Amino acid sequence: MRVLTGIQPSGKLHIGNYFGAIKQMIDLQEQNELFAFVANYHALSGGADLKELEQNTIDVAIDYLSLGIDPEKTVLWVQSQVKEVLELYWVLSKYTPVGLLERAHSYKDKIAKGIAPNHALFSYPVLMAADILLFDAQKVPVGKDQKQHLEMTRDIAIKFNNEHGEIFTLPEAIIDENVATIPGIDGAKMSKSYKNTIEIFYDSEKALQKRCNKIITDSTPMGEPLEYERNNVFALLKLFSTQEEIEELKKDYKSGNYGHGHFKKLLKEKILNHFAPAYEKRAYYQEHLDEVKDILNEGAKKARKIAQEKMEKVREVMGIY
Ligand code: ADP
Ligand code: TRP
Repeated sequence: MRVLTGIQPSGKLHIGNYFGAIKQMIDLQEQNELFAFVANYHALSGGADLKELEQNTIDVAIDYLSLGIDPEKTVLWVQSQVKEVLELYWVLSKYTPVGLLERAHSYKDKIAKGIAPNHALFSYPVLMAADILLFDAQKVPVGKDQKQHLEMTRDIAIKFNNEHGEIFTLPEAIIDENVATIPGIDGAKMSKSYKNTIEIFYDSEKALQKRCNKIITDSTPMGEPLEYERNNVFALLKLFSTQEEIEELKKDYKSGNYGHGHFKKLLKEKILNHFAPAYEKRAYYQEHLDEVKDILNEGAKKARKIAQEKMEKVREVMGIY
């Protein structure tokens, strides 16, 4: 099965991203042909700080490699390395009714928030359709917010295929409804936009501990049993624990022998333990940027070959000289 996904280079990854998206990707690469790219052209449609765009692009690639994307199994590249996507974006624009784009929730949400709409924001779903159709992706793992973009991609592909024959594969979204929403330090959904994240990579153990200490808990006095049921620290500890450990933790909470500080320290330790191999790999890649660039170039080469073949067909059926 060919699985494809795009990752926006929009800042530091957090634990919600890891358990909500990255972990699935790592699992998917075992049984499938995974194509993953850093969607740096998409970042132009928002308010991305262009001074940081190039660094963020590389950082995302390094983060994914460190967390377990294996370049032997997965084709990894940066969107702007394969220019065919921009040609297909224009071609697909012909098959995209303006009304379809006007109905896009993400576009409407953004203008409702006061973002000045430009054409990049408006036509964002067409570029996403090009990303997907160019590579005949069968499955596309995305968050719920992207579901409509996948439906639009299918609409556009159907319109094109009706006119020109079966050129494009119709993709299906993989939306994991079971993935729990990971809470942030305030108990709301962990999200960059809420500034309530625990990032995956911190510069020091101290910085991570400081962040864990900010998790909001109740003010039960020391020596009294703690509730774990609605406890934000416990909710995060669970992610890093086996069933047996969870049962132990529950007992410890109720025992009255420990305060919240104890569990916050434990959380820090579990996070560090879990991501220790990723920290190591990340340090390595940061020292070996050439290797990262080689991986991206190699991925781009494979992706480009597929893209070029597809575009030749598209030009041929459309009479593009
Ligand atoms: P953010 O909300 O921080 O901007 P993104 O929208 O960039 O995060 O999300 C990238 C991916 O991570 C998506 O697939 C999304 O579903 C997943 N994700 C983000 N936050 C969470 C969370 N709190 N719980 C579960 N999954 C999440
Ligand atoms: N729009 C996606 C997001 O914000 C990123 C993306 C761009 C993407 N192109 C894609 C995802 C193609 C899947 C397939 O998360």
